[in-house]
Amino acid sequence: MEVKIFNNSTEIGNAAAEIIINKVNSKNDAILGLATGASPVPTYKKIIEEYNNGNVSFKDVKTFNLDEYCSIPASDRNSYYTFMHENLFNHIDIKEENVHVPNGNPENAEEYCAAYDESIVAAGGIDIQVLGIGRNGHIGFNEPADEFTAGTYKVKLTDSTIEANKIYFDHEEDVPRYAITMGVQSIINAKEIILIAEGKAKAQAIHDMIKGEISPACPASILQKHNNVHIFIDKDAASLL
Ligand code: F6R
Repeated sequence: MEVKIFNNSTEIGNAAAEIIINKVNSKNDAILGLATGASPVPTYKKIIEEYNNGNVSFKDVKTFNLDEYCSIPASDRNSYYTFMHENLFNHIDIKEENVHVPNGNPENAEEYCAAYDESIVAAGGIDIQVLGIGRNGHIGFNEPADEFTAGTYKVKLTDSTIEANKIYFDHEEDVPRYAITMGVQSIINAKEIILIAEGKAKAQAIHDMIKGEISPACPASILQKHNNVHIFIDKDAASLL
């Protein structure tokens, strides 16, 4: 693991964007694995800036997102589909047919999830996977558990995640109870991984991921086994290392 400590989120975003842009410029049809949440937003901002400056094109790039809520439509303001379009896709020259955000409402979840993993393999596998990390060490929607998860699957969200998401929805009953997420195995199949985290609230998870034992009690700890991982964090997130 390469662990780099930065002064602020702009520096983190610039460093992560540089790796992604260099990859796309050396491999025009690169496959990117993307995350939602606050952590990658400065990275997406920098990518948009470099695109606007004519320094990179995404016209042959394909993307696969980590996860999506069930029970709300893709058009919902809280969907990860909407998040990705507002924060990245609407501002660069990526083709809509090359964008893959899991369908949160598949007719047959098991078949759909297997097909999602197959489409990643068929595309050639993810060249760079962008990740955030939860306070409890989750990656994607893979929460602490007894076993590491495998491929993409439909997950029941934990009470704490549902509770945390309430602020985004007008009615409590609208808060999604399930999500589709790439499993831990699908995530670590990526050739290169950039994990981004900021703030004191992430310090324990960062400590456990890097220094703890490899255990599904901290799903991100699996990254210790991967041979091409960049951990880009600020001083607060690094404070327990
Ligand atoms: C997002 C995802 C989550 C987040 C994590 C951190 O697609 O899968 O695992 O990366 O919850 O979220 P932020 O960045 O908002 O702190």
